[in-house]
Amino acid sequence: MDASQTPRPLTARRAGPLAGTAPVPGDKSISHRALILGALAVGETRVSGLLEAEDVLGTAKAMSALGADLLRDGDGMWRVWGRGVGGLAEPDCVLDFGNSGTGARLVMGAVATTAMRAVLTGDASLRRRPMRRVLEPLTLFGAEYDAREGGLMPVTLRGAAHPLAIEHEVAVASAQVKSALLLAALNAPGRSRIVQRALTRDHTEKMLAAFGARIAVEALDGGGEAIEITGEIDLVPAVVDVPCDPSSAAFPLVAALIVPGSDVRIPGVLLNPRRTGLIDTLKEMGADIAVENARESGGERIGDLIVRASSLKGVEVPPERAPSMIDEYPILAIAAAFAEGRTVMRGLEELRVKESDRLSAIVAGLRANGVAVEESEDGMTVTGGEVAGGGTVTTHMDHRIAMSFLVMGLASRDAVTVDDVSMVATSFPEFEELMRGLGAEFLVAEP
Ligand code: S3P
Repeated sequence: MDASQTPRPLTARRAGPLAGTAPVPGDKSISHRALILGALAVGETRVSGLLEAEDVLGTAKAMSALGADLLRDGDGMWRVWGRGVGGLAEPDCVLDFGNSGTGARLVMGAVATTAMRAVLTGDASLRRRPMRRVLEPLTLFGAEYDAREGGLMPVTLRGAAHPLAIEHEVAVASAQVKSALLLAALNAPGRSRIVQRALTRDHTEKMLAAFGARIAVEALDGGGEAIEITGEIDLVPAVVDVPCDPSSAAFPLVAALIVPGSDVRIPGVLLNPRRTGLIDTLKEMGADIAVENARESGGERIGDLIVRASSLKGVEVPPERAPSMIDEYPILAIAAAFAEGRTVMRGLEELRVKESDRLSAIVAGLRANGVAVEESEDGMTVTGGEVAGGGTVTTHMDHRIAMSFLVMGLASRDAVTVDDVSMVATSFPEFEELMRGLGAEFLVAEP
């Protein structure tokens, strides 16, 4: 999907309460990593519950262009036969990651310490996103790159023929950067040490351990952690059962909270504490969210969420919580619009370099629907209560902006239109159908 394709507007309007079960698809972060690590292991990795959305399918295509064998064996069931650490082959085509920053940045790491030249690109949104944050530290391993002005894609990356282990502190609070460095370190002889001050999602570390990597994580005085990983170790294949994506669950979850009378169950959701900042915040706002069947699956905590419509109140969200809910601010802003009083969100500079400048997109969308919001360089304050709606929201090729404002339209006085829902397929292709199944009303709007 690219900007040149015809946009597909959609309108959401208030109907009855939402009720029933919302089975959301597999976690996007874990799905990308399962395919990449499968491609780096020797032997057959089996994945179930894989997110079959455009972003992850782009990574599957890239891993196959890099020489891995991938087979789809049924809904969400995939088998990957890897090439081994250092065994990826030079692709004879451009690797196109579409809208996916995670796919692009993780694969940069995976190829940076193998002698090859790879050309990577993406759609109009991804070609505007910063890549230097990954490419610069990859040069410490001996990789070289050529990017457009500003470190933008298309990028040519030349993997190091004689990689070196590194010691490096990640400069931004980014799981993608950290993960790219860990993947690169796999083929660098000796021990690499990656320090991160912000505790971002740790799926790469967990999954590397499950694939047999020699990896140790040490908590640092004063916060943060150091990850040590030994290179040139063979990875063994694994069985990966992908839990449901909490970042996708966030949409039916907030919808159930704000549509009066709703009662929704979302089964099997990943509850890794580095991903649950939204649930913690909503509970502080007065949300009725219960967890049932809490259990462990594949080294991750999961559970069923039971969500009932609630009267919400505004809160101050601690800025240090941002990494554990970085993708959830658009939908939190919608919850805040329906909450009594002010919700203050800060520490959000990273939101400016997501699939869109999410801070500006949220603020513009809220204002278009009569919600009072103040914007600062790194945050926003929403004053909530009744929401008028009636506006049209520009989504800027951003799936989460589209889904968030459709959720708003389910509870606002007048309907809300988003200018394009085509990007929803990058992470949550079943969104419309799933929400309709709960009782949501969407109308196809005129372009
Ligand atoms: C992701 C990390 C986050 C998040 C993205 C997925 C990952 O990005 O926004 O949707 O899977 O590692 P950053 O690492 O840029 O914060």
